[in-house]
Amino acid sequence: MHINSTILSGQGVLKDLYFLLKDRKHVLFITDQNIINLSVTKELIEKVQENVALVTIVDDIPPEPSHHDVTNLLNKMKVSNADLVIGVGGGSVLDVAKLISVLCIKDSNITLEQLLDGQKPTRRCTSILIPTTAGTGSEATPNAILAIPEKDTKQGIISPVMLPDYVCLVPELTTSMPNHIAASTGIDALCHLIECFTANISNPIGDNYALIGMQKLFNSLEKSVNDKTNIETKLNMLWASYYGGAAIAHAGTHLVHAMSYPLGGKYHIPHGVANAILLVPCMEFVRDAVVDKFAQAYDLLPDAVLTLTAEEKSHALVNYFRELVKRLALPCKLQELNISSDDLHYLVDAALDVKRLMNNVPKQVSKQDVLAIYRSLL
Ligand SMILES: NC(=O)c1ccc[n+]([C@@H]2O[C@H](COP(=O)([O-])OP(=O)(O)OC[C@H]3O[C@@H](n4cnc5c(N)ncnc54)[C@H](O)[C@@H]3O)[C@@H](O)[C@H]2O)c1
Ligand SMILES: [Zn+2]
Repeated sequence: MHINSTILSGQGVLKDLYFLLKDRKHVLFITDQNIINLSVTKELIEKVQENVALVTIVDDIPPEPSHHDVTNLLNKMKVSNADLVIGVGGGSVLDVAKLISVLCIKDSNITLEQLLDGQKPTRRCTSILIPTTAGTGSEATPNAILAIPEKDTKQGIISPVMLPDYVCLVPELTTSMPNHIAASTGIDALCHLIECFTANISNPIGDNYALIGMQKLFNSLEKSVNDKTNIETKLNMLWASYYGGAAIAHAGTHLVHAMSYPLGGKYHIPHGVANAILLVPCMEFVRDAVVDKFAQAYDLLPDAVLTLTAEEKSHALVNYFRELVKRLALPCKLQELNISSDDLHYLVDAALDVKRLMNNVPKQVSKQDVLAIYRSLL
């Protein structure tokens, strides 16, 4: 997969985008209620409004949006002629902005229903994605994930056409993240990196992205959660998240994400929190099939003991993940989220149904295996 977005990164970098506002007729600005009030966002909106006659601001994208949310938004906006879409937010906002960039353009020849049916878009308007979590890496993936309440799960709409023209990694936009969101979205980035690195269809390009991303994440995640003002670690986390997204574009995630889809889709558990609960048991399950890759990842830890055997390193990596989730004070059990043994059969069937990701698990996985993992979390 070729990702050809132009990337701008660093403090104050948004002003380097202003040239893109010249001669625009209609800008759609997509964000949410938390982000619209940040001073950096306000400044950007002012600049857009100064330069463009018609600016539509959508500031109510909910977390973990469903296809109904996008349909309601399309009905409400009644516009189909945007020439620039700017998305500023976490994965929820960016995924919607990606969809809007193919749906709200002049003479669009595709609908949301058709995208959900698997038809592919062929074009979009100019788009800029600016993440405020670190994160989903949505700005680097061809995916937009929507909840499907009728099926109690989530669905990915996938097309490289949705990759943006410009990505801005602006560390000062992520300093307002509450600690628990910085922690859970950081674990999401870690899941992208380690799952893609060990996926059945991993390849050397995705592997390199995953290794660079993990090195940055291992050095910065805890520091960036514990010290919101540290711009350097915030920027490192944005890059780790971006590399996670780029790794997804090449390889795709597997067991953690397949098993977390129903937790998000039916029980509305935030994506990063669901992944944090599943990370350790899923990595324990696949470990013996990917010993060498786990050893390679272990070597990137700041206090790695390089003399250990590959087998020892692979166990030590799983232990590091276990301690990391605890230190970040994220939930480790489904019971903490009011999920009980009555829910297990639904969860197992729904997870096995995410075939795109289950086929990517680097080891045979049976219904009994999936049940045992969920059961271990009660
Ligand atoms: N497209 C992809 O490749 C991809 C990958 C993984 C996840 N996802 C999807 O992304 C969504 C989750 O995104 P997310 O984890 O980034 O969370 P989110 O976008 O849902 O945001 C979570 C909460 O954090 C708040 N928030 C975000 N940034 C903030 C900031 N800087 N300051 C203060 N508050 C802030 C938001 O307003 C929201 O209330 C899910 O729908 C998930 O399925 C997409
Ligand atoms: Zn994810």
